[in-house]
Amino acid sequence: MFNKRTRIKDLLANESLSSGVIVMGWVRTFRNNQFIALNDGSTNNNLQVVAELGKFKESILKRITTGAALKVSGEMISSLGKGQKIELKANSIEILGDSDAEKYPLQPKKHSLEFLREIAHLRFRTNTFASVFRVRHTLAFAVHKFFNDKGFVYLHTPIITASDAEGAGEMFHVTNFDLTHPAKNEDGSINYKEDFFGKATNLTVSGQLEGELAAMALADVYTFGPTFRAENSNTARHLAEFWMIEPEMAFYDLEDNANLAEEFIKYIISYALENNKEDLEFLSQRLAEEEKQKPQQERSEMGLIEKLEFVINNNFERLTYTEAVQILKESNHNKKKKFQYLIEEWGVDLQSEHERYLVEKHFKKPVILIDYPKQIKAFYMRQNDDGKTVAAMDILAPGIGEIVGGSQREERLDKLTERMNEMHVSTEELDWYLDTRRFGSVPHAGFGLGFERVVQFVTGMTNIRDVIPFPRTPKSAEF
Ligand code: 4AD
Ligand code: MG
Repeated sequence: MFNKRTRIKDLLANESLSSGVIVMGWVRTFRNNQFIALNDGSTNNNLQVVAELGKFKESILKRITTGAALKVSGEMISSLGKGQKIELKANSIEILGDSDAEKYPLQPKKHSLEFLREIAHLRFRTNTFASVFRVRHTLAFAVHKFFNDKGFVYLHTPIITASDAEGAGEMFHVTNFDLTHPAKNEDGSINYKEDFFGKATNLTVSGQLEGELAAMALADVYTFGPTFRAENSNTARHLAEFWMIEPEMAFYDLEDNANLAEEFIKYIISYALENNKEDLEFLSQRLAEEEKQKPQQERSEMGLIEKLEFVINNNFERLTYTEAVQILKESNHNKKKKFQYLIEEWGVDLQSEHERYLVEKHFKKPVILIDYPKQIKAFYMRQNDDGKTVAAMDILAPGIGEIVGGSQREERLDKLTERMNEMHVSTEELDWYLDTRRFGSVPHAGFGLGFERVVQFVTGMTNIRDVIPFPRTPKSAEF
């Protein structure tokens, strides 16, 4: 057996002085032909490995370069040097993988996030990205733990589907046609009957509709999977491939839904604070340094950890779309025409500048907006008695804007089909969905949390491309 290594994180945490220790990792720096800073990805704290002068052959020493992979065995001793309590006195050093220091793209200096995005295959080896992806892991784990502890069933909804759950037409087609010669109908249109699935298919934009089917039997379910949107939004908050968590609950109304969403968001943030304190402290410092580059009025009032603790310890503000529009309309920002899109009338969709004004300037905390105008929301949302609004809910977070979108679902068959017809959503194609309303329909609700947006919020990373290992965005699908 090759792998008998101890993780550096555990060595540093235990501070035990023992012999026969084996570590493996990558060289960050090598000073004075003697001191190796070794990192194995378990923590940003490097282990100092000491290669005593004269003990190792020159042929080995010259291969200890930045990026090289080593196996070291030796003895943990108290460190004489500053900066670390303990260090590993090497008895043997084996080079597992050489790294040509001249060509290695990651030099021991600060690189810009933009540059690191171009070498995303290597950016895991930086402290920033190692922290981000450890936190991302913890958040993903916390998602499953939260729902499992509550008795929800984790449902795997399909990636390939024939329906547009959001009715927004932002789908990627899935086909195995030879695109230079697809089968055609007499009128020249594509004949999907001849395609792999015998009909037009696409990558899913949401697992919600299938989630609703399962909720009508299992009661409490959730999905957590990749979703795909061909929206041409080149922003710091949009990806063409992103992960979404979508719980769907029978016997829930909008208020139950909002309560669950708030509890859920607070839970996963607390879980990360408890289990990734060191990484969050690192990211907090990183953010503080980044903020120093910004003009005073754009800097955030709170540090990262302070902000996360604030979110956990305070209730989210809840208000209706109508109240929000009133606030925005009367804001100085609107009066002084500081919004790119001015708020003039009820019914307009809120832009991210409006959402951010509400959370960052007005309420200074996360906000749950409910009861949106029906014309700007999807067909499946439950119609309110006023005839104008639906039981929708969006959660807005400081620095991000919309982080959750959800609603109580229209459980009344007649109201649902009426709305589908108005919105030109085919009742024929979604006949299976309508069956849930025909047989034992119940009030139910659910929401979708954009996983990368929550990772952005927790890690303080400004660009969504920096919280997913290999971002897919317009004109970019590297690695
Ligand atoms: O608001 P959306 O479109 O809602 C739905 O898809 C519903 N079917 C969810 C449900 O009720 N089950 O998307 C939900 C969330 C957004 O609030 C946002 O956080 C995230 O998904 N999201 C994106 N994240 C990254 N890149 C994109 N292009 C995103 N589009 C939506
Ligand atoms: Mg939305």
